[in-house]
Amino acid sequence: MYRTHTNGQLRAQHIGQEVTLSGWVQKTRDKGFMVWVDLRDRYGVTQLIFDAQRTQKNMMQQAQKLGREFVIQVSGKVIERESKNPNMPTGDIEILVSKVTILNASLTPPFTIEDTTDGGEDLRMKYRYLDIRRNPVRNNLIFRHKVSMAVRNYLSEQGFVDVETPYLIKSTPEGARDFVVPSRMNQGQFYALPQSPQTFKQLLMVGGLDKYFQIVKCFRDEDLRADRQPEFTQIDCEMAFVEQEDILNTFEGLTRHLLKEINGVEVGAFPRMQYDDAMRLYGNDKPDIRFGMEFGELNQVAKHKEFKVFNSAELVVGIAIPGANSFTRKEIDKLIDWVKRPQIGALGMVYCRCNEDGSFKSSVDKFYDQEDLAKWAETTGAKPGDLICVLSGQTNKVRAQLSALRMELAERLSLRKPDEFAPLWVVDFPLLELDEETGNYHAMHHPFTSPKPGQMALLDTHPGEVKANAYDLVLNGNEIGGGSIRICDKQTQAIMLKHLGFSEQEAKEQFGFLMDAFEYGAPPHGGIAFGLDRLVAILGGQETIRDFIAFPKNNSGRDVMIDAPAPLDDPQLTELHLKLDIQE
Ligand code: AMO
Repeated sequence: MYRTHTNGQLRAQHIGQEVTLSGWVQKTRDKGFMVWVDLRDRYGVTQLIFDAQRTQKNMMQQAQKLGREFVIQVSGKVIERESKNPNMPTGDIEILVSKVTILNASLTPPFTIEDTTDGGEDLRMKYRYLDIRRNPVRNNLIFRHKVSMAVRNYLSEQGFVDVETPYLIKSTPEGARDFVVPSRMNQGQFYALPQSPQTFKQLLMVGGLDKYFQIVKCFRDEDLRADRQPEFTQIDCEMAFVEQEDILNTFEGLTRHLLKEINGVEVGAFPRMQYDDAMRLYGNDKPDIRFGMEFGELNQVAKHKEFKVFNSAELVVGIAIPGANSFTRKEIDKLIDWVKRPQIGALGMVYCRCNEDGSFKSSVDKFYDQEDLAKWAETTGAKPGDLICVLSGQTNKVRAQLSALRMELAERLSLRKPDEFAPLWVVDFPLLELDEETGNYHAMHHPFTSPKPGQMALLDTHPGEVKANAYDLVLNGNEIGGGSIRICDKQTQAIMLKHLGFSEQEAKEQFGFLMDAFEYGAPPHGGIAFGLDRLVAILGGQETIRDFIAFPKNNSGRDVMIDAPAPLDDPQLTELHLKLDIQE
């Protein structure tokens, strides 16, 4: 038996017992006549003591040889500590060791296995198995386990059936590039890894399964950010015989359950916000509504003077930053530089100080008098002591810029509190989105999303105005889920694909299987997928999903531990028919 107890278990009540423990050497302190060792495992740390008076001589020598991260097994007696450590659950006791066995030695680890480590991100990724020994990383993984178990139990109790769908499939367009897998048996042909199980879950509804869920890996070849990984996990769900309202209620229930179960937080009914309102008020389809700072559109009150910049702009829009009249001129200049960075792309920023005495001082006092500025304050909801920041330009761009500024300032002013949860549904998304570069429309959600009733006719005349039966679940400024009510008849699906630029032939080749299925009695259906990594990170009070994934990829999509991706050798390339013939 390797152990009678774990290293987090022993307390004063165990004093006098003979125990056996196993684990890793966290650290040793050697005073010559006495050696202390902190022994660690997943459950905690227990102090071991080797004492020249009470321990055999050869044991002392062995203790002195123990290095950091050695894996050892010890037997001994639980004794009361002379100096207790109230900060440790096991801090009342220590083990007077009578036998030690080195189970495995360890090289000196390249960084300290402590809560705050000296290891940089790259190094920790390379030795991720050592990083996982650290409390913060291990606790995140255990936290993820708790969330996914809570999800499974809840959905299973609600009658959802967990069904696995294949990974070697044909492209499912979710807006990213596919990862592809060459087929050895079918020369020149490739599988695509699923960007989501979208078409399969729809087919399960045609198959009559009624309520499906799966906690499933998805693969998307897209640029990576803190909230994006090339392989990530969805809680993928689909229901038959439902309308949008049914889906929203069901998954609001799941989210509320998780907040209660995991975070102990009770939230009321989730607000619902139209996509258009989210864009107008927050410049963003995933607004963080934990703090105000809603946009005030200033066209009416800022375009009547001689200020050319505003007069030539499509949209003049501002936000009031609470208490920021205290910003120095230098701080404001830095903020202006911040919005002018290429990543944000604003040409400049106008500001207006709202003084405590009710007067205003703006950077454009030449053009606007106190009465004008009072209207700015009214429109942006600014109070004495606030600072109004105003951007102008093309509507979509300026909204995105002001949204970035809003989030940055909220972060700097600590308004984004990690233990406060503000979920909302964003509804009534446009069906199509214009790709400014190509001038083509593509599906904003995916091509299987149905338009709002009665809006099909608009597709020909005003495609950009058609609204979809699509919704996103937003939590603290993050899109944690998205879904839609689907098209469930062949003809509508064909029209949709035509509008998305698929020829009849292409539509048949790529989605013929789905449209054929619709001809055999497809029930009305719809669903949603949550990003599990994102959900877990946010419930855990963070936003970087990498910290909640056991073996994540870095920003270049590499696994630096196993060094992937990697080239294939010639025989394998040949077998896969991928070897280019140099002669040709
Ligand atoms: P969607 O593309 O909106 O919808 O994806 C659902 C959710 O998955 C998460 N997500 C990601 N998380 C981490 N890394 C990524 N690269 C990544 N991409 C997406 C987001 C997102 O809200 N089939 C549809 C769902 C449906 O219609 O039912 C779909 O995949 O949190």
